[in-house]
Amino acid sequence: MAAFLSLVQLLFIGTLIVPAYSETERCGWLLNATASDFTLSTLPTAYQANTTYLVTIRDNRKASDSTDVINYFLQAVSPENASTGEWKVADKENCSDIDTAILNVTQQAANWTSSVSNISSVEIRAYIVFADRSAVFKAVTLNKAPETTTLPTSTTHNSVPVVQSSSFFIAVIQLPLLLVTSRLLS
Ligand SMILES: *[C@@H]1O[C@H](CO)[C@@H](O)[C@H](O)[C@H]1NC(C)=O
Ligand SMILES: *[C@@H]1O[C@H](CO)[C@@H](O)[C@H](O)[C@H]1NC(C)=O
Ligand SMILES: *[C@@H]1O[C@H](CO)[C@@H](O)[C@H](O)[C@H]1NC(C)=O
Ligand SMILES: *[C@@H]1O[C@H](CO)[C@@H](O)[C@H](O)[C@H]1NC(C)=O
Ligand SMILES: *[C@@H]1O[C@H](CO)[C@@H](O)[C@H](O)[C@H]1NC(C)=O
Ligand SMILES: *[C@@H]1O[C@H](CO)[C@@H](O)[C@H](O)[C@H]1NC(C)=O
Ligand SMILES: *[C@@H]1O[C@H](CO)[C@@H](O)[C@H](O)[C@H]1NC(C)=O
Repeated sequence: MAAFLSLVQLLFIGTLIVPAYSETERCGWLLNATASDFTLSTLPTAYQANTTYLVTIRDNRKASDSTDVINYFLQAVSPENASTGEWKVADKENCSDIDTAILNVTQQAANWTSSVSNISSVEIRAYIVFADRSAVFKAVTLNKAPETTTLPTSTTHNSVPVVQSSSFFIAVIQLPLLLVTSRLLS
């Protein structure tokens, strides 16, 4: 009898510990999400491989709308719509093959590390999920920084690459002209 009672007690405690929602349920909340204009920022802002980003959600919609938030969801996808990089969070789901970080309402930021592979850009998607299981989303695209940011800043040294690049430019213009001329001659 005592054993039966503790089994009943265990089962009862068990129901308190099991997560309240299944994976498919939680992923399903995102399906009907509508676009919204809350703030979604990343640091740094340009895309680089193998780099850790701090992704922050700031829910600056009307305060009255913010009271019933239950979760924030975050995803990172490549231009081919494939999940990319890794979310450094405790709670994650595989939603339609996309690695999805799940933050509770007290967390508004997460670290994400980009993949070591060479992709041109990444789209970070954030969802705000409400108590009625409706959701809004926002996406930002991180592009690679333009190459010009790596040029030397010293003015004395700048003149040399400019001369080199202008003669390169002339060479590029001359090449098709040479081809056309040689076609005409032949
Ligand atoms: C999404 O919206 C469609 C049509 O409005 C509805 O049939 C469906 O049940 C909704 N799905 C979820 C997960 O809320
Ligand atoms: C990625 O970055 C980590 C830490 O900065 C470094 O240890 C590792 O070698 C890098 N991996 C590649 C493939 O560049
Ligand atoms: C990625 O998904 C978006 C919307 O879900 C779609 O508009 C776009 O065509 C997809 N791109 C590729 C390359 O599949
Ligand atoms: C995510 O789930 C799909 C099936 O829904 C499965 O094919 C895929 O391997 C899973 N991906 C990961 C990273 O677990
Ligand atoms: C939210 O998540 C953090 C980190 O996992 C945890 O410390 C905190 O207790 C959670 N808060 C709630 C209300 O679940
Ligand atoms: C992100 O990583 C940094 C450095 O490891 C850490 O100090 C910070 O607490 C992390 N932030 C979050 C939201 O996990
Ligand atoms: C990365 O891709 C760009 C073009 O998309 C290419 O110019 C560059 O050489 C590639 N870098 C590596 C390390 O593969």
